[in-house]
Amino acid sequence: MKRVAVLTSGGDAPGMNAAVRSVTRSAIFRGLEVVGVRRGYEGLLEGDLIPLTKSSVGGIIHRGGTILRTARSDRFRRPEGINEAVQQLKSFDIDGLVVIGGDGSFRGAWELVDRGFPVVGVPATIDNDIAGTDMTIGFDTAINTALEAVKKIRDTASSHDRLFIIEVMGREAGFLALEVAVASGAECVLVPERPVELGRLCDKLHYARNRGKTHSLIILAEGVMAAHELAEQLLDTGGYDSRITVLGHLQRGGSPTAFDAVLASRMGTAALEGLLEGQKGVMAVYRHGGMELVPLSLAWEQKKRLNHELLDLVEKLSI
Ligand code: F6P
Repeated sequence: MKRVAVLTSGGDAPGMNAAVRSVTRSAIFRGLEVVGVRRGYEGLLEGDLIPLTKSSVGGIIHRGGTILRTARSDRFRRPEGINEAVQQLKSFDIDGLVVIGGDGSFRGAWELVDRGFPVVGVPATIDNDIAGTDMTIGFDTAINTALEAVKKIRDTASSHDRLFIIEVMGREAGFLALEVAVASGAECVLVPERPVELGRLCDKLHYARNRGKTHSLIILAEGVMAAHELAEQLLDTGGYDSRITVLGHLQRGGSPTAFDAVLASRMGTAALEGLLEGQKGVMAVYRHGGMELVPLSLAWEQKKRLNHELLDLVEKLSI
């Protein structure tokens, strides 16, 4: 293997740059040439490649977003697009590819592997919804970003004796909502993995009010319903007046936490070394404190289970 490429794909996540730096520097350390593909698979189809050097990845470890930029490509989802992508990789003399992204990006990576091209994945998404790894790059930063916002909302909620609904990201998974709820001491958390019981939620708010709690925070994952819908339902069902805050894309930005910068550095190097050892169709994951390579297919074949101990903890600790 002489020349490897790296790309970021899907939603950006804090720490992606640290992963790009890690892949690049460890490849150069092993005597390889490195190119960066800009705008994910879309850029690959357009041949939008740039050389990456020791210095071009300098000063990016702490930067949010991705210097390679990212995209969600419709063209790459079609078989002709995938075949074209393999041709592009070959025409640029690339021997292996590292894909940094989430489950959609890994399905794409698998299509390349299926056509004989070596690819190793690095799981990066603020959703943490990839089975096989305890943590994905960006998750820890997003928790902390959301938590900072929730702490500020708590100040105003307690000053005005108000009920707040704070909507966090997570269309299909409640990992972010759950961690934020536990860390902020929220009264309730609503996640896509568990059906909403509005009656129970109202009882809980009622009980809290009766025993003198003057303000309450509900952390809502966006995949459950929109915050304004929940506000309407709480008003109709229990007469609860609430305020809402939708944290939105601010959760995807910012400098990675130390944890994410370290995780990304470890995963990037583990992925590159995996490629050099002849591995393909695997991703570099973090399990029980260490790095491992596991099949990429876990990302779409297995649903990562939410930690029910944490769900119970929100209940127990908000009495
Ligand atoms: O997958 C990461 C994520 O941030 C989700 O939490 C969110 O639902 C989605 O991406 C938003 O995607 P987009 O930026 O394309 O609207």
